[in-house]
Amino acid sequence: MKKVGIIAVGKYLPERKLTNFDLEKLVETSDEWIRTRTGISERRIAGPNEKTSDMAIHAAEDVLKKSKIPASKIDLILVATISPDSNFPSMACLVQKSIGAKNAVAFDISAACSGYLYAITTAKQFLQTGLYKNALVIASEQITKLIDWKDRSTCVLFGDGAGACMLATVPSRGIVADFMHSQGEFSDLMQVVSENSRNPLLDTETTTMKLPHVVMQGQELFKIAVNSMADAVEQVLKKAKVKITDVDCIVPHQANDRIISAVAKKLNVPKEKFFINIDKYGNMSAASIAVALAEAVGSKRIKKGKTVVLVAFGAGLVAGANVVKW
Ligand code: ACO
Repeated sequence: MKKVGIIAVGKYLPERKLTNFDLEKLVETSDEWIRTRTGISERRIAGPNEKTSDMAIHAAEDVLKKSKIPASKIDLILVATISPDSNFPSMACLVQKSIGAKNAVAFDISAACSGYLYAITTAKQFLQTGLYKNALVIASEQITKLIDWKDRSTCVLFGDGAGACMLATVPSRGIVADFMHSQGEFSDLMQVVSENSRNPLLDTETTTMKLPHVVMQGQELFKIAVNSMADAVEQVLKKAKVKITDVDCIVPHQANDRIISAVAKKLNVPKEKFFINIDKYGNMSAASIAVALAEAVGSKRIKKGKTVVLVAFGAGLVAGANVVKW
């Protein structure tokens, strides 16, 4: 099996910021409540004409520049998203068209907040076996279009954005272990529902039309998230035969700063080991880890020689982790 590594990272964040103070004008909430309960101060919102595919394309262009691999040489494009522009075509095919990656195979991956790690692990299989030489992996989410802006229990949590990386075969180090775990029995804890889910043409009694929106049982999810993420870190480190004390940086999914604190406590590691940027962006679903990883590399927190753990948890419920030796 060939070794596979992350050779470049990139990101894109929409310009428009929505602060906690802006939200105070929309729902009965306060900057103080949001900051102390979640760690979020502001989040980005896609512009009126900006779609999930547009953000994915910007993040792809950023990573293409850094990897110096021409678009025509890309073998595989995967986009992790639960908020695509529409059911089809896939976001990956729209990226392929825009960047001119004519020789790539392109498809999407749906695994909520764990989507980026599921996409990285999926892409890695194709490279390990030698079928493909490289893969452009993107996470792009316009999750705010799935939010009920009258529901204070969810609307304060999410933001939009995109991140990306280039995977390629490497002589040594690279992605040394993967972990994925899915628990469909908990699927009702977080879902997108629509009061208009039945076909109105067949069901004439459907009169209320409400757009699809996120509903979740926050407290239940919180407890499972802490246990799942801590377990995912332990399992992936065991597979990699790496001790937690030898890990330089953990890049977790950014759902709630208190979840990250609880995971750090459960693993008995200092919180400083975690890369955290939730204050600026909120929960961007699959894009959270993608953007955090790009920023950790950009700020030199992650650099050559470092051992990194990526860990995610999300609706499904799905958890995932990777150990990456930079
Ligand atoms: N502003 C002010 N008060 C609020 C707000 C708000 N925005 N939202 C809720 N409250 C109130 C509640 O009404 C409640 O009031 P009450 O005590 O009078 O009934 C009180 O605050 C406490 O509410 P809880 O829901 O118990 O608050 P909690 O401390 O659990 O925090 C939160 C809620 C932030 C949602 C937390 O539970 C959480 O982060 N859960 C995990 C979310 C998660 O991990 N999601 C999955 C990943 S995302 C993905 O997969 C795409």
